[in-house]
Amino acid sequence: MRWIVNGAPVEEDVDVRTSLLDFLRERLHLFGAKKGCNQGACGACTVLVDGERINSCLALAVQYAGREITTIEGLGAVGDLHPLQTAFVEHDGFQCGYCTPGQICSAVAMASELERGVPSAVTEDVAATDIALTHDEIRERMSGNLCRCGAYNGIVDAIQAVYGAAAQAGKREAA
Ligand code: FES
Ligand code: FES
Repeated sequence: MRWIVNGAPVEEDVDVRTSLLDFLRERLHLFGAKKGCNQGACGACTVLVDGERINSCLALAVQYAGREITTIEGLGAVGDLHPLQTAFVEHDGFQCGYCTPGQICSAVAMASELERGVPSAVTEDVAATDIALTHDEIRERMSGNLCRCGAYNGIVDAIQAVYGAAAQAGKREAA
């Protein structure tokens, strides 16, 4: 079976019962995505599939054959950090760091959902295409990613700093 993982083709035989998370960690040795609860409750295992966020502990690797998987290792690296990684450092968006790869993968997909005008449970006007990136929107949209260290204020600030600024720049360009 074949996958594209972090931009590179991967070909492996895999037991049909293997979760995508175990495949990434144990076969490909990509240890960024974490196994927190292993039952879809914490978001530590969040990765991107064709740009959409999923809990990889709830997915089978074979389900996603042929798809493009991106883990935190594919978003940034030492010396070439993703802007969100830099913002998490600047805004104290983590303590132990266990949840951080999942938080960042999730936030990347969240920003794309927002850009596409996908409403959340706290969006006042669900028909709006230009949804403001408020703290409430970020908290709601990131509510599937738990942080046992309670670094939530820093996480929200980091996301706001990166995507709030991008949204403002986009509006200025459109004006
Ligand atoms: S490890 Fe997948 S949601 Fe917790
Ligand atoms: S930084 Fe420790 S769990 Fe989030």
